[in-house]
Amino acid sequence: MNIRKRLILTNSITIILPIVFTFIISFVYIIVSTSFFNNDLSTDNFNKILDIKYELINTSSSILKQNPDAVEQDEFQKNIKEKLSKFNGEAVILKNDNIIFSTINVSKFDVEKCLSFDNKLSKNKIIINDKSYTASIIPLAFKNGDKGNVILFAPIISNQNSIEKFAAMIISVFILSFIITNVIMSYLLSKRIIKPVKALKNAAAEISSGNLEFEIMEDGDKEICDLCRDFEKMRVQLKDSVNMKMKYDDNRRMLVSSISHDLKTPITSIKGYVEGILDGIANTPEKQEDYLNTIYSKAELMDVMIDDLLLYSKLDLNQIPFKYEKTDIVKYFEYCIFESSEELAKDNIKIHMENGLKNENYVIIDRERMRRVIMNIINNAHKYMDKDQGEIIISLRETNLSIIIEIRDNGAGISEEDVNKIFDRFYRGDAARSETKGSGLGLAIAKQIVEGHKGKIWALSHGNEGTSILISLAKAQ
Ligand SMILES: Nc1ncnc2c1ncn2[C@@H]1O[C@H](COP(=O)(O)OP(=O)(O)OP(=O)(O)O)[C@@H](O)[C@H]1O
Ligand SMILES: [Mg+2]
Repeated sequence: MNIRKRLILTNSITIILPIVFTFIISFVYIIVSTSFFNNDLSTDNFNKILDIKYELINTSSSILKQNPDAVEQDEFQKNIKEKLSKFNGEAVILKNDNIIFSTINVSKFDVEKCLSFDNKLSKNKIIINDKSYTASIIPLAFKNGDKGNVILFAPIISNQNSIEKFAAMIISVFILSFIITNVIMSYLLSKRIIKPVKALKNAAAEISSGNLEFEIMEDGDKEICDLCRDFEKMRVQLKDSVNMKMKYDDNRRMLVSSISHDLKTPITSIKGYVEGILDGIANTPEKQEDYLNTIYSKAELMDVMIDDLLLYSKLDLNQIPFKYEKTDIVKYFEYCIFESSEELAKDNIKIHMENGLKNENYVIIDRERMRRVIMNIINNAHKYMDKDQGEIIISLRETNLSIIIEIRDNGAGISEEDVNKIFDRFYRGDAARSETKGSGLGLAIAKQIVEGHKGKIWALSHGNEGTSILISLAKAQ
């Protein structure tokens, strides 16, 4: 439920509940007093009392509005008599304790008794000529300084006392139940809103103190639930980014230690060969040329490694923009095969393509970067080829949305458990490691480039029979 609906509901309950409760209490009270105490609390009597009270107030206010001297005039007295006759009321007008007008036969004693009333309706009851009345007194001050009073008599209805008590009771019940309902509803409302807000406040304090290992539960009304959900999302994101930062820091540390280790190997051998020349071990011009050639090739290897590393870290930081072009993948691979076939043929490796594409030949790629990926895969197949008759097959297939490229060789192969590690940076299989044939970054760079194209790259091991590297790229349309 949202907060607006809850507020409307709470306010409605606060009003409706006391009314219903008051009705029930009145109903029970009426039933009990009519059946057990024989009190007639009928609405007729109730209306009569209301009518009399209304007329009495009306008459009193019309007297008060008049000039006091007018009470002596016939017209005024006639008028008052007429008004009182509506509810069988009577009136007596006094001037200096003398009765100057009366609609009822009243004794001096009764008049004095009436004058002693203090206008509390419940007390000013009087019986005149065997009829019960309540008397209300209106004091008059005449212009000449004389004092007077108008006494109005209203007849008392049967059961008036019980009806008045009943009216007082229902008003009290309503006010009391209204106050109680109000307090309870306000408490429930504040609990529904304040409890989750407090929980959020605590969560914010935890987050600001660096603790992200807790869950924020959704609680309360819709708006507060939404707030809790957003808060929880924020906490998870924050936690992820902290974890990511820690992972990055770990990676950096590993990167630095791997670089130092991998660069140290060629440097150590360069140092050895230089010492060989300086110490005169390479004492013939042929030997010296041999040493210098080795030093040159080790330096070149270091150069390649540093270039790869720079490229890798730039890709890692997304610093290299891709130049995407719509490319016919079949023609693209025909060219790659044309470029590498001569070199491969020297080592007795055949390369060819199996084109299974029927509907779509086009993909959107950065041709230069993708060339690096393909060349690394073909070079790996070349480098790790152990068969006399080598073979590399590039097969192209398609699914609904993508084109799948499989580059399969029949080389040394990779064991099943290592096949997923080859895309890690600096991962090199044992054979590769001993021969120090590359930086071990080739497939890590390939992975970054393919993923930069929103594609996927993975490997399949065929045991000793060879390896397949697969790439899926989205079709151009
Ligand atoms: N076709 C393959 N056959 C057998 N092993 C392979 C093949 N391709 C990759 N590998 C293994 O995966 C490792 C990682 O390959 P990757 O291309 O990343 O590095 P590299 O070839 O050693 O060095 P670089 O490519 O940087 O010169 C290789 O060292 C090798 O052990
Ligand atoms: Mg390689």
